[in-house]
Amino acid sequence: MSRLDSFIRRLTAQKILLEDVTARLAGVEGPVLELGLGNGRTYDHIREILPDRDIYVFDRDLACHPSCIPDAEHMIFGEIRDTLAYCGPRIKGPAAFIHCDLGSGDPTMDLATSSWLSPLIDLHTAPGGYVLSGLPLDLPNFETLPKPEGIRPGRYHLYRKQG
Ligand SMILES: C[S@@+](CC[C@H](N)C(=O)[O-])C[C@H]1O[C@@H](n2cnc3c(N)ncnc32)[C@H](O)[C@@H]1O
Repeated sequence: MSRLDSFIRRLTAQKILLEDVTARLAGVEGPVLELGLGNGRTYDHIREILPDRDIYVFDRDLACHPSCIPDAEHMIFGEIRDTLAYCGPRIKGPAAFIHCDLGSGDPTMDLATSSWLSPLIDLHTAPGGYVLSGLPLDLPNFETLPKPEGIRPGRYHLYRKQG
Protein backbone atom coordinates (compact mmCIF):
# COMPACT_ATOMS: atom_id res chain seq x y z
CA MET A 1 0.00 0.00 0.00
CA SER A 2 1.36 3.46 -0.85
CA ARG A 3 2.09 5.89 1.96
CA LEU A 4 -0.64 8.12 0.52
CA ASP A 5 -3.21 5.32 0.81
CA SER A 6 -2.02 4.49 4.32
CA PHE A 7 -2.30 8.15 5.37
CA ILE A 8 -5.82 8.42 3.96
CA ARG A 9 -6.86 5.24 5.78
CA ARG A 10 -5.40 6.50 9.07
CA LEU A 11 -7.24 9.80 8.90
CA THR A 12 -10.46 8.11 7.81
CA ALA A 13 -10.20 5.69 10.74
CA GLN A 14 -9.58 8.58 13.16
CA LYS A 15 -12.69 10.43 11.97
CA ILE A 16 -14.94 7.34 12.08
CA LEU A 17 -13.70 6.32 15.54
CA LEU A 18 -13.81 9.79 17.09
CA GLU A 19 -17.43 10.12 15.96
CA ASP A 20 -18.21 6.59 17.19
CA VAL A 21 -16.88 7.40 20.69
CA THR A 22 -18.74 10.71 20.72
CA ALA A 23 -22.01 8.85 20.14
CA ARG A 24 -21.27 6.64 23.19
CA LEU A 25 -20.28 9.41 25.61
CA ALA A 26 -23.70 10.57 26.80
CA GLY A 27 -23.92 9.92 30.55
CA VAL A 28 -20.15 9.78 31.10
CA GLU A 29 -19.00 12.92 32.89
CA GLY A 30 -15.56 14.45 32.64
CA PRO A 31 -13.20 16.24 30.28
CA VAL A 32 -11.54 14.95 27.13
CA LEU A 33 -7.76 14.50 26.99
CA GLU A 34 -6.06 14.81 23.60
CA LEU A 35 -2.56 13.28 23.84
CA GLY A 36 -0.56 14.60 20.88
CA LEU A 37 -1.68 17.90 19.37
CA GLY A 38 0.56 17.58 16.29
CA ASN A 39 -0.97 19.48 13.42
CA GLY A 40 -4.19 19.91 15.42
CA ARG A 41 -6.42 17.96 13.04
CA THR A 42 -7.94 15.56 15.52
CA TYR A 43 -8.14 18.24 18.23
CA ASP A 44 -10.05 20.47 15.81
CA HIS A 45 -12.45 17.62 15.01
CA ILE A 46 -12.98 16.70 18.65
CA ARG A 47 -13.83 20.28 19.62
CA GLU A 48 -16.28 20.41 16.72
CA ILE A 49 -18.11 17.19 17.65
CA LEU A 50 -17.88 17.68 21.46
CA PRO A 51 -18.41 21.43 21.83
CA ASP A 52 -19.58 21.23 25.46
CA ARG A 53 -16.60 19.30 26.86
CA ASP A 54 -13.41 20.72 28.35
CA ILE A 55 -10.62 19.40 26.11
CA TYR A 56 -7.11 19.34 27.60
CA VAL A 57 -4.35 18.95 25.02
CA PHE A 58 -0.89 17.54 25.74
CA ASP A 59 2.26 17.91 23.64
CA ARG A 60 5.91 18.75 24.09
CA ASP A 61 5.80 21.11 21.06
CA LEU A 62 3.48 23.62 19.47
CA ALA A 63 3.48 22.84 15.78
CA CYS A 64 -0.20 22.98 14.88
CA HIS A 65 -2.15 25.06 12.39
CA PRO A 66 -2.65 28.56 13.88
CA SER A 67 -6.41 28.06 13.98
CA CYS A 68 -6.02 25.04 16.27
CA ILE A 69 -4.01 26.45 19.19
CA PRO A 70 -5.81 25.61 22.46
CA ASP A 71 -6.13 28.37 25.07
CA ALA A 72 -3.48 28.51 27.79
CA GLU A 73 -5.64 26.78 30.38
CA HIS A 74 -6.25 23.78 28.13
CA MET A 75 -2.77 23.39 26.54
CA ILE A 76 -0.43 21.32 28.72
CA PHE A 77 3.17 21.48 27.49
CA GLY A 78 5.90 19.00 28.27
CA GLU A 79 6.72 15.31 28.21
CA ILE A 80 3.43 13.45 28.55
CA ARG A 81 5.07 10.92 30.85
CA ASP A 82 5.47 13.80 33.35
CA THR A 83 2.50 16.03 32.59
CA LEU A 84 -0.09 13.24 32.47
CA ALA A 85 1.17 11.91 35.79
CA TYR A 86 0.60 15.23 37.55
CA CYS A 87 -2.30 16.82 35.64
CA GLY A 88 -5.01 15.72 38.11
CA PRO A 89 -5.68 19.10 39.77
CA ARG A 90 -5.56 20.89 36.40
CA ILE A 91 -8.12 18.67 34.64
CA LYS A 92 -10.38 18.70 37.70
CA GLY A 93 -11.55 15.07 37.50
CA PRO A 94 -11.11 11.84 35.57
CA ALA A 95 -11.62 11.97 31.82
CA ALA A 96 -14.68 10.71 29.97
CA PHE A 97 -12.52 10.17 26.88
CA ILE A 98 -8.79 10.01 26.19
CA HIS A 99 -7.53 10.09 22.62
CA CYS A 100 -3.87 9.04 22.19
CA ASP A 101 -2.08 9.71 18.93
CA LEU A 102 1.54 9.21 19.97
CA GLY A 103 2.80 6.53 17.59
CA SER A 104 6.38 7.15 16.44
CA GLY A 105 6.58 4.54 13.70
CA ASP A 106 9.49 2.88 15.54
CA PRO A 107 8.33 -0.43 17.10
CA THR A 108 10.74 -0.31 20.08
CA MET A 109 9.92 3.29 20.94
CA ASP A 110 6.19 2.51 20.60
CA LEU A 111 6.49 -0.47 22.99
CA ALA A 112 8.24 1.76 25.54
CA THR A 113 5.54 4.43 25.16
CA SER A 114 2.73 1.90 25.64
CA SER A 115 4.43 0.61 28.77
CA TRP A 116 4.62 3.94 30.67
CA LEU A 117 1.42 5.31 29.14
CA SER A 118 -0.96 2.47 30.06
CA PRO A 119 -0.99 2.95 33.87
CA LEU A 120 -1.31 6.73 33.46
CA ILE A 121 -4.30 6.25 31.16
CA ASP A 122 -5.91 3.96 33.73
CA LEU A 123 -5.28 6.55 36.47
CA HIS A 124 -7.03 9.36 34.58
CA THR A 125 -10.00 7.60 32.94
CA ALA A 126 -13.42 7.82 34.63
CA PRO A 127 -15.35 4.59 35.26
CA GLY A 128 -17.27 3.91 32.04
CA GLY A 129 -14.92 6.23 30.13
CA TYR A 130 -13.40 5.56 26.71
CA VAL A 131 -9.86 5.41 25.36
CA LEU A 132 -9.00 5.49 21.67
CA SER A 133 -5.33 4.85 20.90
CA GLY A 134 -3.14 4.35 17.88
CA LEU A 135 -0.84 2.22 20.03
CA PRO A 136 -2.09 -0.93 21.77
CA LEU A 137 -2.29 -0.36 25.54
CA ASP A 138 -2.14 -2.76 28.47
CA LEU A 139 -5.36 -1.91 30.35
CA PRO A 140 -6.55 -4.77 32.58
CA ASN A 141 -9.42 -2.69 34.01
CA PHE A 142 -10.84 -2.02 30.56
CA GLU A 143 -12.72 -4.03 27.97
CA THR A 144 -11.54 -3.93 24.37
CA LEU A 145 -14.43 -2.85 22.17
CA PRO A 146 -15.09 -3.95 18.61
CA LYS A 147 -14.49 -1.20 16.08
CA PRO A 148 -16.99 0.06 13.53
CA GLU A 149 -17.08 -1.48 10.07
CA GLY A 150 -14.23 -0.60 7.77
CA ILE A 151 -11.39 -0.11 10.30
CA ARG A 152 -8.50 -2.47 9.59
CA PRO A 153 -7.39 -4.70 12.50
CA GLY A 154 -4.45 -3.21 14.43
CA ARG A 155 -4.89 0.29 13.07
CA TYR A 156 -6.57 1.69 16.18
CA HIS A 157 -7.59 0.39 19.59
CA LEU A 158 -10.81 1.21 21.43
CA TYR A 159 -11.23 0.54 25.16
CA ARG A 160 -13.88 1.20 27.79
CA LYS A 161 -13.09 1.29 31.50
CA GLN A 162 -15.26 -0.92 33.65
CA GLY A 163 -17.95 1.12 35.36
C1 LIG B 1 1.16 11.98 15.29
S1 LIG B 1 1.29 13.55 16.08
C2 LIG B 1 -0.38 13.91 16.55
C3 LIG B 1 -1.23 14.28 15.35
C4 LIG B 1 -2.55 14.90 15.74
N1 LIG B 1 -3.44 13.93 16.37
C5 LIG B 1 -3.22 15.53 14.54
O1 LIG B 1 -4.32 15.08 14.17
O2 LIG B 1 -2.65 16.45 13.96
C6 LIG B 1 2.03 13.14 17.60
C7 LIG B 1 2.32 14.34 18.50
O3 LIG B 1 2.60 13.84 19.79
C8 LIG B 1 3.69 14.53 20.36
N2 LIG B 1 4.35 13.59 21.27
C9 LIG B 1 4.73 12.31 21.00
N3 LIG B 1 5.24 11.72 22.08
C10 LIG B 1 5.21 12.65 23.07
C11 LIG B 1 5.60 12.66 24.45
N4 LIG B 1 6.17 11.57 24.98
N5 LIG B 1 5.43 13.77 25.17
C12 LIG B 1 4.89 14.89 24.61
N6 LIG B 1 4.47 14.95 23.31
C13 LIG B 1 4.64 13.85 22.56
C14 LIG B 1 4.57 14.95 19.19
O4 LIG B 1 5.28 16.14 19.52
C15 LIG B 1 3.54 15.17 18.08
O5 LIG B 1 3.16 16.52 17.99
